[in-house]
Amino acid sequence: MSAAPGALSYTDSAQPQAFEIRPFAGAVGAEIIGLDLSRPVNAGDFARIHRAHLDHHVVVFRDQRITPQQQIDFSRLFGVLQIHVLKQFLLGGHPEILIVSNIIENGQNIGLGDAGKFWHSDLSYKELPSLGSMLHAQELPSEGGDTLFADMHKAWDQLPAHLRAAVEGRSAAHSYTARYSETKFEGNWRPTLTAEQLAQVQEVIHPVVRTHPENGRKALFVSEGFTTRIVGLPEDESRQILAELYAHSVLEHNIYRHQWQPHDLVFWDNRSLIHLAAGCPAHLRRKLYRTTIQGDAPF
Ligand code: SIN
Repeated sequence: MSAAPGALSYTDSAQPQAFEIRPFAGAVGAEIIGLDLSRPVNAGDFARIHRAHLDHHVVVFRDQRITPQQQIDFSRLFGVLQIHVLKQFLLGGHPEILIVSNIIENGQNIGLGDAGKFWHSDLSYKELPSLGSMLHAQELPSEGGDTLFADMHKAWDQLPAHLRAAVEGRSAAHSYTARYSETKFEGNWRPTLTAEQLAQVQEVIHPVVRTHPENGRKALFVSEGFTTRIVGLPEDESRQILAELYAHSVLEHNIYRHQWQPHDLVFWDNRSLIHLAAGCPAHLRRKLYRTTIQGDAPF
Protein backbone atom coordinates (compact mmCIF):
# COMPACT_ATOMS: atom_id res chain seq x y z
CA MET A 1 0.00 0.00 0.00
CA SER A 2 1.45 3.39 -0.87
CA ALA A 3 0.52 7.05 -0.63
CA ALA A 4 -1.94 8.24 -3.28
CA PRO A 5 -0.64 9.93 -6.47
CA GLY A 6 0.25 13.52 -5.72
CA ALA A 7 0.44 12.80 -2.02
CA LEU A 8 3.32 13.92 0.12
CA SER A 9 5.60 10.98 0.97
CA TYR A 10 5.74 9.70 4.48
CA THR A 11 9.12 9.65 6.19
CA ASP A 12 10.58 6.17 5.90
CA SER A 13 13.31 7.00 8.42
CA ALA A 14 10.81 8.05 11.14
CA GLN A 15 10.60 5.91 14.27
CA PRO A 16 7.58 3.57 14.40
CA GLN A 17 4.99 4.60 17.00
CA ALA A 18 3.14 2.27 19.36
CA PHE A 19 -0.56 2.90 18.83
CA GLU A 20 -3.79 0.98 19.10
CA ILE A 21 -6.72 0.87 16.69
CA ARG A 22 -9.94 0.16 18.60
CA PRO A 23 -13.08 -0.39 16.49
CA PHE A 24 -16.24 1.15 17.92
CA ALA A 25 -18.99 -1.23 18.94
CA GLY A 26 -21.56 0.26 16.54
CA ALA A 27 -22.00 0.61 12.80
CA VAL A 28 -18.69 2.07 11.67
CA GLY A 29 -15.63 3.81 13.03
CA ALA A 30 -12.57 3.19 15.17
CA GLU A 31 -10.45 5.26 17.50
CA ILE A 32 -6.69 5.46 17.33
CA ILE A 33 -4.94 5.83 20.64
CA GLY A 34 -1.30 6.59 21.29
CA LEU A 35 -0.31 8.02 17.91
CA ASP A 36 1.27 11.47 17.88
CA LEU A 37 0.67 13.20 14.56
CA SER A 38 2.98 16.07 15.46
CA ARG A 39 5.76 13.53 14.75
CA PRO A 40 6.54 12.17 11.28
CA VAL A 41 4.66 9.01 10.33
CA ASN A 42 6.70 6.17 8.83
CA ALA A 43 5.63 3.82 6.04
CA GLY A 44 4.52 0.97 8.32
CA ASP A 45 2.42 3.26 10.52
CA PHE A 46 0.95 4.95 7.46
CA ALA A 47 -0.08 1.54 6.08
CA ARG A 48 -1.89 0.68 9.36
CA ILE A 49 -3.71 4.03 9.40
CA HIS A 50 -4.64 3.73 5.73
CA ARG A 51 -5.99 0.19 6.30
CA ALA A 52 -8.01 1.34 9.33
CA HIS A 53 -9.50 4.19 7.30
CA LEU A 54 -10.56 1.78 4.54
CA ASP A 55 -11.93 -0.83 6.96
CA HIS A 56 -13.73 1.45 9.43
CA HIS A 57 -14.50 4.45 7.14
CA VAL A 58 -14.08 6.96 9.98
CA VAL A 59 -11.14 7.03 12.36
CA VAL A 60 -10.80 9.23 15.42
CA PHE A 61 -7.25 10.17 16.40
CA ARG A 62 -7.46 11.14 20.05
CA ASP A 63 -5.56 13.96 21.71
CA GLN A 64 -3.77 15.46 18.71
CA ARG A 65 -1.86 18.62 19.71
CA ILE A 66 -1.05 19.52 16.12
CA THR A 67 -0.60 22.81 14.31
CA PRO A 68 -2.55 23.70 11.14
CA GLN A 69 0.60 22.95 9.12
CA GLN A 70 0.90 19.50 10.73
CA GLN A 71 -2.76 18.78 9.89
CA ILE A 72 -2.05 19.82 6.29
CA ASP A 73 1.11 17.69 6.11
CA PHE A 74 -0.67 14.62 7.49
CA SER A 75 -3.65 15.13 5.16
CA ARG A 76 -1.29 15.34 2.17
CA LEU A 77 -0.11 11.79 2.82
CA PHE A 78 -3.46 10.72 1.38
CA GLY A 79 -3.59 12.97 -1.68
CA VAL A 80 -3.86 16.45 -3.10
CA LEU A 81 -5.78 18.92 -0.92
CA GLN A 82 -8.82 20.77 -2.21
CA ILE A 83 -9.32 24.48 -1.55
CA HIS A 84 -12.90 25.35 -0.59
CA VAL A 85 -14.81 27.75 -2.84
CA LEU A 86 -15.71 29.99 0.15
CA LYS A 87 -12.34 31.77 0.31
CA GLN A 88 -13.76 33.99 3.06
CA PHE A 89 -13.49 31.10 5.50
CA LEU A 90 -10.02 29.78 4.73
CA LEU A 91 -7.47 30.02 7.53
CA GLY A 92 -5.04 32.91 7.02
CA GLY A 93 -1.74 31.64 5.62
CA HIS A 94 -3.22 28.12 5.27
CA PRO A 95 -5.76 28.11 2.43
CA GLU A 96 -5.91 24.30 2.62
CA ILE A 97 -7.87 24.70 5.88
CA LEU A 98 -11.56 25.59 5.94
CA ILE A 99 -12.70 27.05 9.25
CA VAL A 100 -15.94 25.39 10.38
CA SER A 101 -17.30 27.60 13.13
CA ASN A 102 -20.37 29.38 14.47
CA ILE A 103 -18.24 32.12 16.08
CA ILE A 104 -18.86 35.74 15.14
CA GLU A 105 -16.06 38.25 15.75
CA ASN A 106 -16.43 41.97 15.09
CA GLY A 107 -19.74 41.28 13.41
CA GLN A 108 -18.17 38.80 10.96
CA ASN A 109 -18.54 35.01 10.81
CA ILE A 110 -15.04 33.61 11.27
CA GLY A 111 -15.96 30.36 9.53
CA LEU A 112 -18.66 28.38 7.82
CA GLY A 113 -21.25 28.23 10.58
CA ASP A 114 -23.72 25.85 9.04
CA ALA A 115 -21.32 23.40 7.34
CA GLY A 116 -22.92 19.98 7.33
CA LYS A 117 -26.46 21.03 8.17
CA PHE A 118 -27.76 18.54 5.58
CA TRP A 119 -26.44 14.99 5.07
CA HIS A 120 -23.74 15.08 2.39
CA SER A 121 -20.48 13.71 1.06
CA ASP A 122 -17.89 16.49 0.87
CA LEU A 123 -17.47 18.14 -2.51
CA SER A 124 -19.72 15.64 -4.32
CA TYR A 125 -20.59 18.70 -6.46
CA LYS A 126 -17.10 18.58 -8.04
CA GLU A 127 -15.95 16.41 -10.96
CA LEU A 128 -13.40 14.98 -8.53
CA PRO A 129 -15.21 14.75 -5.19
CA SER A 130 -13.36 14.34 -1.95
CA LEU A 131 -11.66 11.06 -0.98
CA GLY A 132 -11.82 12.00 2.66
CA SER A 133 -11.87 14.91 5.08
CA MET A 134 -10.15 15.63 8.37
CA LEU A 135 -11.71 17.78 11.05
CA HIS A 136 -9.59 18.94 14.00
CA ALA A 137 -11.30 20.24 17.12
CA GLN A 138 -10.19 23.74 18.16
CA GLU A 139 -13.05 24.87 20.42
CA LEU A 140 -15.95 22.66 21.45
CA PRO A 141 -19.34 23.57 22.92
CA SER A 142 -20.31 22.23 26.33
CA GLU A 143 -23.53 20.89 24.79
CA GLY A 144 -24.30 19.45 21.34
CA GLY A 145 -22.03 19.85 18.32
CA ASP A 146 -21.92 16.13 17.43
CA THR A 147 -21.13 14.89 13.92
CA LEU A 148 -23.04 11.89 12.52
CA PHE A 149 -21.72 9.46 9.91
CA ALA A 150 -23.89 7.06 7.88
CA ASP A 151 -22.51 4.01 6.05
CA MET A 152 -23.37 4.19 2.35
CA HIS A 153 -22.01 0.70 1.60
CA LYS A 154 -24.56 -0.75 4.00
CA ALA A 155 -27.20 1.56 2.56
CA TRP A 156 -26.55 -0.01 -0.84
CA ASP A 157 -26.24 -3.59 0.49
CA GLN A 158 -29.57 -3.25 2.35
CA LEU A 159 -31.45 -1.31 -0.32
CA PRO A 160 -34.93 -2.74 -1.05
CA ALA A 161 -35.19 -4.46 -4.44
CA HIS A 162 -37.56 -1.90 -5.98
CA LEU A 163 -35.12 0.93 -5.22
CA ARG A 164 -32.16 -1.07 -6.52
CA ALA A 165 -34.01 -1.64 -9.77
CA ALA A 166 -34.93 2.06 -9.96
CA VAL A 167 -31.38 3.38 -9.59
CA GLU A 168 -28.96 0.76 -10.88
CA GLY A 169 -27.03 2.17 -13.86
CA ARG A 170 -28.48 5.66 -13.36
CA SER A 171 -26.74 8.98 -12.71
CA ALA A 172 -27.66 11.97 -10.60
CA ALA A 173 -26.89 15.68 -10.68
CA HIS A 174 -25.02 17.30 -7.77
CA SER A 175 -24.89 21.02 -7.12
CA TYR A 176 -23.21 23.14 -4.46
CA THR A 177 -26.06 25.60 -4.66
CA ALA A 178 -28.78 22.96 -4.18
CA ARG A 179 -29.58 24.04 -0.59
CA TYR A 180 -27.32 27.09 -0.39
CA SER A 181 -29.81 29.62 0.88
CA GLU A 182 -31.68 27.33 3.28
CA THR A 183 -30.75 27.86 6.89
CA LYS A 184 -31.38 25.47 9.72
CA PHE A 185 -29.19 27.01 12.38
CA GLU A 186 -29.65 30.57 13.50
CA GLY A 187 -27.77 33.21 11.54
CA ASN A 188 -27.25 33.98 7.91
CA TRP A 189 -24.02 32.05 7.40
CA ARG A 190 -23.69 31.94 3.67
CA PRO A 191 -22.14 34.83 1.74
CA THR A 192 -23.51 35.58 -1.73
CA LEU A 193 -21.37 33.73 -4.27
CA THR A 194 -19.44 35.84 -6.78
CA ALA A 195 -19.53 35.01 -10.50
CA GLU A 196 -16.05 33.51 -10.12
CA GLN A 197 -17.19 31.29 -7.23
CA LEU A 198 -20.30 30.20 -9.14
CA ALA A 199 -18.10 29.23 -12.10
CA GLN A 200 -16.18 26.86 -9.80
CA VAL A 201 -19.31 25.00 -8.73
CA GLN A 202 -21.13 24.13 -11.93
CA GLU A 203 -23.52 21.17 -11.70
CA VAL A 204 -21.86 17.75 -12.17
CA ILE A 205 -23.25 14.27 -12.92
CA HIS A 206 -22.17 11.17 -10.96
CA PRO A 207 -23.39 7.57 -10.78
CA VAL A 208 -26.08 6.99 -8.13
CA VAL A 209 -24.21 3.86 -7.09
CA ARG A 210 -20.43 4.13 -7.07
CA THR A 211 -17.68 1.56 -6.61
CA HIS A 212 -15.10 2.43 -3.99
CA PRO A 213 -11.78 2.58 -5.85
CA GLU A 214 -9.80 1.03 -3.00
CA ASN A 215 -12.07 -1.48 -1.25
CA GLY A 216 -14.08 -2.42 -4.37
CA ARG A 217 -17.44 -2.19 -2.56
CA LYS A 218 -20.48 -0.46 -3.97
CA ALA A 219 -21.95 2.54 -2.14
CA LEU A 220 -24.96 4.79 -2.65
CA PHE A 221 -23.71 8.19 -3.75
CA VAL A 222 -26.59 10.63 -3.34
CA SER A 223 -27.34 13.00 -0.48
CA GLU A 224 -29.95 15.56 0.48
CA GLY A 225 -27.22 18.23 0.71
CA PHE A 226 -26.04 18.26 -2.88
CA THR A 227 -28.04 15.86 -5.10
CA THR A 228 -30.72 17.64 -7.11
CA ARG A 229 -32.19 15.02 -9.50
CA ILE A 230 -31.80 11.60 -11.07
CA VAL A 231 -30.93 12.05 -14.70
CA GLY A 232 -33.49 10.82 -17.23
CA LEU A 233 -36.45 10.47 -14.84
CA PRO A 234 -39.54 12.71 -14.68
CA GLU A 235 -39.13 15.32 -11.92
CA ASP A 236 -41.75 13.89 -9.54
CA GLU A 237 -40.44 10.33 -9.88
CA SER A 238 -36.87 11.51 -9.32
CA ARG A 239 -37.95 13.48 -6.23
CA GLN A 240 -39.83 10.48 -4.83
CA ILE A 241 -36.96 8.03 -5.36
CA LEU A 242 -34.40 10.44 -3.90
CA ALA A 243 -36.58 10.95 -0.82
CA GLU A 244 -36.73 7.18 -0.31
CA LEU A 245 -32.97 6.84 -0.82
CA TYR A 246 -32.26 9.62 1.69
CA ALA A 247 -34.51 8.06 4.33
CA HIS A 248 -32.97 4.63 3.77
CA SER A 249 -29.39 6.01 3.94
CA VAL A 250 -29.69 7.29 7.47
CA LEU A 251 -31.26 4.38 9.32
CA GLU A 252 -30.21 4.47 12.96
CA HIS A 253 -28.32 1.14 12.92
CA ASN A 254 -25.98 2.35 10.15
CA ILE A 255 -24.94 5.57 11.90
CA TYR A 256 -22.00 6.47 14.11
CA ARG A 257 -22.54 9.58 16.22
CA HIS A 258 -19.28 11.31 17.10
CA GLN A 259 -19.27 13.19 20.39
CA TRP A 260 -16.24 15.40 20.21
CA GLN A 261 -13.46 15.35 22.80
CA PRO A 262 -10.79 18.06 23.04
CA HIS A 263 -8.04 17.70 20.39
CA ASP A 264 -9.85 14.98 18.42
CA LEU A 265 -8.83 14.71 14.77
CA VAL A 266 -11.54 12.86 12.83
CA PHE A 267 -10.75 11.45 9.39
CA TRP A 268 -13.61 10.02 7.34
CA ASP A 269 -14.00 8.47 3.89
CA ASN A 270 -16.38 10.48 1.71
CA ARG A 271 -16.58 7.56 -0.74
CA SER A 272 -18.11 5.33 1.96
CA LEU A 273 -20.05 7.72 4.21
CA ILE A 274 -22.27 10.75 4.30
CA HIS A 275 -22.19 13.02 7.34
CA LEU A 276 -24.23 15.61 9.19
CA ALA A 277 -23.44 18.27 11.78
CA ALA A 278 -26.06 18.02 14.52
CA GLY A 279 -25.61 21.66 15.55
CA CYS A 280 -25.25 23.24 18.99
CA PRO A 281 -26.95 26.09 20.85
CA ALA A 282 -26.08 29.32 19.04
CA HIS A 283 -24.53 30.98 22.09
CA LEU A 284 -21.92 28.22 22.51
CA ARG A 285 -18.67 28.51 20.57
CA ARG A 286 -17.62 25.72 18.18
CA LYS A 287 -14.57 25.85 15.91
CA LEU A 288 -12.91 23.09 13.89
CA TYR A 289 -10.34 23.07 11.09
CA ARG A 290 -11.13 21.00 8.02
CA THR A 291 -8.80 19.67 5.34
CA THR A 292 -10.31 17.96 2.30
CA ILE A 293 -8.44 15.43 0.18
CA GLN A 294 -9.27 15.07 -3.51
CA GLY A 295 -10.48 11.69 -4.72
CA ASP A 296 -11.00 10.33 -8.21
CA ALA A 297 -13.95 10.53 -10.59
CA PRO A 298 -16.73 8.25 -9.24
CA PHE A 299 -17.46 5.15 -11.37
C1 SIN B 1 -18.67 19.30 7.60
O1 SIN B 1 -19.72 18.95 7.04
O2 SIN B 1 -17.58 19.22 7.05
C2 SIN B 1 -18.72 19.82 9.04
C3 SIN B 1 -19.18 18.79 9.99
C4 SIN B 1 -19.28 19.34 11.39
O3 SIN B 1 -19.14 20.55 11.60
O4 SIN B 1 -19.52 18.56 12.31
